[in-house]
Formats: sequence, structure tokens, C-alpha cells
Amino acid sequence: MSDETVTIIDDTTGKKVQLPLLSPTRGPKTIDISALYKELGYFTFDPGFVSTASCASSITFLDGEKGVLQYRGYPIEQLAAQSSYLEVCFLLINDKLPSRQELDDFEYEITNHTMLHEALKRFFSGFRRDAHPMAIMVGVVGALGAFYHDHMDIHNPEHRMITAHRLIAKMPTIAAWSYRYAMGKPFIYPVNSMSYTENFLNMMYSMPSEKYTPNPLLAKALDLILILHADHEQNASTSTVRLAGSSDANPFAAVAAGIAALWGPAHGGANEAVIRMLMEINESGKSLQSFVDRAKDKDDSFRLMGFGHRVYKNYDPRAKLIRVICHQLLNDMESTGEQKKLLETAMALEKVALEDGYFVKRNLYPNVDFYSGIIFLAMGIPMNMFTVIFAMARTVGWITQWAEMLSDDNHKIGRPRQLYTGPIDLEYVPIEKR
Ligand code: SDX
Repeated sequence: MSDETVTIIDDTTGKKVQLPLLSPTRGPKTIDISALYKELGYFTFDPGFVSTASCASSITFLDGEKGVLQYRGYPIEQLAAQSSYLEVCFLLINDKLPSRQELDDFEYEITNHTMLHEALKRFFSGFRRDAHPMAIMVGVVGALGAFYHDHMDIHNPEHRMITAHRLIAKMPTIAAWSYRYAMGKPFIYPVNSMSYTENFLNMMYSMPSEKYTPNPLLAKALDLILILHADHEQNASTSTVRLAGSSDANPFAAVAAGIAALWGPAHGGANEAVIRMLMEINESGKSLQSFVDRAKDKDDSFRLMGFGHRVYKNYDPRAKLIRVICHQLLNDMESTGEQKKLLETAMALEKVALEDGYFVKRNLYPNVDFYSGIIFLAMGIPMNMFTVIFAMARTVGWITQWAEMLSDDNHKIGRPRQLYTGPIDLEYVPIEKR
């Protein structure tokens, strides 16, 4: 820990306070303001946490200016090119790349936790058939907390590890069954001889009445997409999991809260919103420029979904990688005319936006959600399942960040303060006198 400090002078009272300046491995130095209220009697004000670090973490590093993303120090480009989703899960959870034996053991462990308790099947039938699968996923994942009392000492590292394995293993089953329930199709059980993504595709698309072999191209593309979505520092849903978990709530409830946060179109729900936007553009018969102009109009709530990012003020490195997969998949597969039309519109929109002063000035680049929706469509995945797959991928990030928080014996319950702007010291008026 460095002994650098920052001095804050209260111009009103002349009072000075020296605060520690913390040095990261990489990235901006961070002022430790925990003593500020005690020393100066002031809170800090930072809605949306634009300049606020909520924790110290060694899991994922982002450099928004340079478009850098690293999991446990490994660049996303190298993991995307050489790793697998389950190997990335091992890396994130164990903070090291596995040996061959360790990876085999981990894959065996995950494979053998993919089943759900039979009683959980009844949870699905409590939903309407047209329920959004994200609503089902929030409910079913939260309900898992009712099934694992045996391993729920969250202060026991072994219990935290088995919980991580269970969640990583069961999310594809819950995701696929959410889809099957909405389609009125029978649930397909996991098949242990299949890989993680082949198993998911099998549970999504196979039918008891005929043989189904998952398309290896799709399984590989999906595995890559899961790698790219696995973790992303202290984004809204991860911060939600940390905050919910900071009260020592059970991890299934904390992850269910994260799924709920991810659902929003400003966050993980953007991939579904991008496709709806591209379809609206294609069906409108209006020019691309008219939509770009609407996105720039402060009086119009329309935004270019899939553009902009709180951290990346450069191209989202994941969007660069997903863009390549997108083109490859649409070339390799006999994609429908509509999918090609959506991709053409996306490419044209990207070109117009990247040359427009409004977007350039605000560093608004395509983010991870801009292309992922087109790939999911090419895979035959329905739009309301896009964010479900994002949640499936991000589960390892959520549970790793949760475990990191709990492994810090000094962790506290998260309890932000506020800038109060309401009325004060009013006299109660009896109703007959109002
Ligand atoms: C994800 O945090 C993460 O890491 C998230 C994520 C992850 O992996 O977990 O990366 C996944 O959530 C990606 C983001 C997906 N969301 C979208 O694509 C929705 C569209 N994007 C925006 O809603 C927005 O860009 C956010 C929410 C992503 C970021 O918003 P910020 O950081 O709060 O930025 P802002 O709203 O303050 O915008 C700054 C300016 C504003 O204009 P001015 O007030 O300066 O004039 O840029 C404008 C905004 O109006 N702006 C946009 C825009 N995004 C920002 N204008 C038009 N279209 C957009 N998409």
C-alpha cells in the first residue's frame, strides 16, 4: 500500500484532511474517502458511480480508453482465440489456468451438477406460457436457495465453491427449460456426453421424437460468446449481486437479483433491444440518418441501442471479436434474408454513427450487445432468450465477484448515504383540518 495522499481543504472552515491515495496494479489511482465523513462531516455525491470504486478486486481489468479487457490478467483476445468457456470459468473462480487434469476434473464436476431437483419443474408451470424467460430465470434461480440448505454456510470456502459449480452447471438447464416451457415443448434433460454448449443447444432444440445433433459451428460460436460475456468488473448486475450478497443473503438470491438488474435494456437487455431497433429501422422505410438524428435529439427518448458504454470510450473489445464471429457465421450458414438484412443495416448504422460528430465527440462506439443479437438470431435463438444467454454466461462472473467479497473478512454490508432534498420538521395536520 503506498503512502501517497491527497489533501482536501474545506474552503468554508479551512479544515484540511489527508486521505490515502491507493495504487492499483493498473488503472486510475483511487482516493480512500472512508474517513471523509468522520474528518470533515461531508458525504461524497456520485449518482451512477461514475467516479466511484465500490471495492478492490483482482478478477477483471478494463481500460475504457484503450478498449482493454482482461480476466485474471489474461487478455480477452487470447482467451477468445485459445480457451473454452469452462476453462475461463475455472480461471475466474480459481485465479489460475487449470492443468489438463484440473480441467478434466472441473468439466466432470460441472457436467454432474446440470440436473435440477424434480420439484423445481413445478416452478416453471406456475408461469403463464407467454412469460418472459428472464422472469422465469429470476424466479427459478432465487428458488434454488430453498433446495441447498446443506451447503449454505457462505463463510465456508468449500460451500462457496460448490455453490459456484451448481450455478454454472444449472444455468443452461434453467435457461433451456424457460424456453421449452414458453414453447409448450417437453423439457429435455442434460446429456453428460455432450459439451457445455452442445448440451444447451440439445436442451433447447432436440425433440424426443427425433434424433438431434447440435451444430458444431453454433456450439463453438456460442462457447466464444459465453467467454466474452463471462465477467466485466463492477457493472450494474455485478454490483447488484455484491450489494445483495453483502447482507449475507444466500448466493442464489443474490444472483437472482443480478439477473433482474441485467434484464434492463440499458444493460444486458440491450441485445434484444438492438434487434428490435434494427427491425424497426428496416420496416420503417425511413433513412438510417433519420434514426441517428432521433438518437441525437434530447427531446426524443430514442437511443441507438448497442452503442455507448460507461467505461469503454473506445471500441468495446468484445464487440470487435463478436463482429468477426457474426460475419463468419452468416457466411458459413445459410442465413435467412432477414438475418442478412439485419446485419447489413447494423453495418450501415455503425458506419453512419462512427462518422457522426455527436457520437465521435461522446466516444459512443458499438458495444458487446450490438452484434450479439444478430448472432443469436442466426442461431435460431428467439429474441426474448438473448439476455437469458447473457445471464447464463455472466453467472460465473457474478458468483466469482460474490465469493471474492465474502473471502474478505473485513467486508461490510453495503449501505450508501444520500443527499437529502426533501422537507424537514413539518407539523402533522389532523385530517379534519386539511
Ligand atoms: C452492457 O457496465 C458494463 O460493463 C455493462 C456491460 C457488461 O458487460 O456488463 O458492458 C453490458 O450493459 C453494455 C451497454 C448496453 N446498453 C446499451 O447499448 C443501451 C444504449 N446505451 C446507453 O443507454 C448508454 O450508452 C449506457 C447506458 C450504456 C451508458 O450510459 P452512461 O455511461 O450513463 O452515459 P450517458 O447516458 O451519460 O451518455 C453520455 C452522453 C449523453 O449525451 P449528453 O448528455 O452528453 O449530450 O452520450 C449520450 C447521452 O445522451 N448517449 C447516447 C447513447 N448512449 C449515450 N446517445 C444516443 N444513443 C446512445 N446509445
